[in-house]
Amino acid sequence: MSGTCVIGLQWGDEAKGKIVDLLTLKHDVVVRYQGGANAGHTVVLGEETYKLSLLPSGVLTPGVTCVIAGGVVLNPAKVIEELNELKKRDVEDFDNLKISDRAHVIFPWHFAEDGAMNQSTSDGENIGTTGRGIGPCYRDKVGRSYAIRLGDMYRDSFRNQVEHIVKVKNRVLAAMLAGQPWEPLVARDIHAQYAVFAERLRPYMADTTEYLLDAVESGKRLLFEGAQGALLDVDHGTYPFVTSSNSSGVGIANGSGVPGRHLGKVIGVVKAYTTRVGGGPFPTEQDNEAGQRLRDQGNEYGTVTGRPRRCGWLDTVAVRYSARLSGVHGICVSLLDVLSGIEELKICTAYEWAGRISRQFPSHVDDLRQVQPIYETMPGWQEDITGAQSIEELPQATRNYLDRVSELVGVPVELVSVGPDRRQTIQVDAL
Ligand code: IMP
Repeated sequence: MSGTCVIGLQWGDEAKGKIVDLLTLKHDVVVRYQGGANAGHTVVLGEETYKLSLLPSGVLTPGVTCVIAGGVVLNPAKVIEELNELKKRDVEDFDNLKISDRAHVIFPWHFAEDGAMNQSTSDGENIGTTGRGIGPCYRDKVGRSYAIRLGDMYRDSFRNQVEHIVKVKNRVLAAMLAGQPWEPLVARDIHAQYAVFAERLRPYMADTTEYLLDAVESGKRLLFEGAQGALLDVDHGTYPFVTSSNSSGVGIANGSGVPGRHLGKVIGVVKAYTTRVGGGPFPTEQDNEAGQRLRDQGNEYGTVTGRPRRCGWLDTVAVRYSARLSGVHGICVSLLDVLSGIEELKICTAYEWAGRISRQFPSHVDDLRQVQPIYETMPGWQEDITGAQSIEELPQATRNYLDRVSELVGVPVELVSVGPDRRQTIQVDAL
């Protein structure tokens, strides 16, 4: 088996980009397979910081092929913007980028719908989406009638598709925005704009399913880069406060087309505490001084939207669930340095729920809202750990914290990240 998979085990923003970037050195192909420009990954290389949304983190490593597979929803303007930005900064190995002709394309009507609905749940509560048109594009993909894939944009029927969809979408938007000022979409302009995008992306378009199957069958080493986190999975996360794709480990095969038997090792990335952006229950949230301290020390503001992230203690009930769901073999504990200086650390070990103590993660958000986290308190550490190169160099209290996390989640800690740079990573076990 030649695949390695990196999955976030919380609500996203677990610093997966850095781990993917590090593991890229040991792989031939890096694959993005779900989500879209709602993801944001930051990779720090020496003095340079790169913020990417759609391009796999692997584009920064020469010689590696980067694939945006069919399960991704593609904002072409954003891909082009990221390619241009990298070119400006002399990162130019784009022959190795392949974008699936099956990837569904995000159009202006998707942004308009995302904004118009404010993407609230059926109860009217705000999901707090990233506003990147992700949900509306996936909805059209599944609905089939108003969807356009990258491969469609090179065919004669493209213009008619746009005209037909714009007619319908203008009616939908008029109903959604009744009483509010809005500009109807103009098919001609959208077609002209997207025809330019299509030309720019033509060299990269490929049947990535076939490419990946050939690659894996010929023994190439594949790295699958999950976006968002497992608790935002549309089927298994905190529905409806989720994203619209399978962001847990279950999404790798369907998003990429590579069957499960080729997916070797799954690494779950766990932030040493918890954050969440947008709405939805968050049992260990600290809407207080402790949470503000985590936000300040961890610079917890969204890469894509700049929104302040909600912060709280590590919830091992949630992470144990998402690790099991994603078939995780080992975890990477990230942002551990952020906890330095905090006198006492809390870890949620179980929930009190309907009069009983449980380690089960509720399937309904109403139940998740009711749970009371049960905390264990552990002594923190005062030392700066950002220079530690091995587990032995970490203070005993830090090691105790890692051991307890591993025990509660039920899988070994294989990597520890103590700072944003590639070099600030401790490998505990051979990967
Ligand atoms: P959407 O993916 O834009 O539809 O947003 C749905 C939910 O997922 C919202 O709560 C977002 O804040 C959250 N979300 C989407 N992408 C990310 C991400 O990359 N990191 C963290 N949260 C995300």
